[in-house]
Amino acid sequence: MIITIDGPAAAGKGTLASTLSEKYHLAYFDTGMIYRAVGLEIRLSGVDVNDEQQALQIAQTMTFPRMMELAKDKRLRDSIGGEYASIVAAMTSVRAKLLKMQQDFALRPVYADGTPAKGAIYDGRDTGTVVCPHADIKFYITASPEVRAERRYKEFIAKGVDISYEQVLQDVKIRDERDSNRSSAPLKPAEDAIILDTSNLGIAEVLKKACEIIDSYQKNS
Ligand code: C5P
Repeated sequence: MIITIDGPAAAGKGTLASTLSEKYHLAYFDTGMIYRAVGLEIRLSGVDVNDEQQALQIAQTMTFPRMMELAKDKRLRDSIGGEYASIVAAMTSVRAKLLKMQQDFALRPVYADGTPAKGAIYDGRDTGTVVCPHADIKFYITASPEVRAERRYKEFIAKGVDISYEQVLQDVKIRDERDSNRSSAPLKPAEDAIILDTSNLGIAEVLKKACEIIDSYQKNS
């Protein structure tokens, strides 16, 4: 079974995807991490993040082991990390280069320790539209920019990051704008996606709805 979860930044995709992956024994692929890894590699090398040729070169040499290495660096998940990821993710050549790696995962899904899994759950922006257009179930998780900024702000504060709510809200809006208006694989729900607006829902309610949909799919297939 392949499940995709797409949606804007801080909509709750990650929490939902990791919880569902445990419950249904699916390998979890956080596709945003690939773009964050390329962005961080650029940041570490001091190259201009807007230089598509350099970004493409880095994307060409990106591997899962290198991503795991970069994942240990706190800068992967800071606000510049998100900004750099969305800049390189808007580059058509970089997206094309990173597509096969994501699609191959669906053919041979593996858990983090490398053992094979019977299916996968993807989290990203275009996993239901471009990466896995034939996924069994597609979710599109969204919430208002203010609610998402509030959630992200609390996460930053819990980690001791010195940032204001206004700054986080501005970052969320800039990222939404860039992710939705790029020419290659813009952020949008797949036609057959189930849309869940989490603005007024807690994680437990979102999880309950998603489980009902998955259980019903499994019963009928
Ligand atoms: O989900 P996350 O915030 O880690 O993603 C970082 C950035 O990577 C997003 O803002 C988006 O620009 C890009 N991304 C993408 N396609 C995906 C996953 C992430 O363009 N499938």
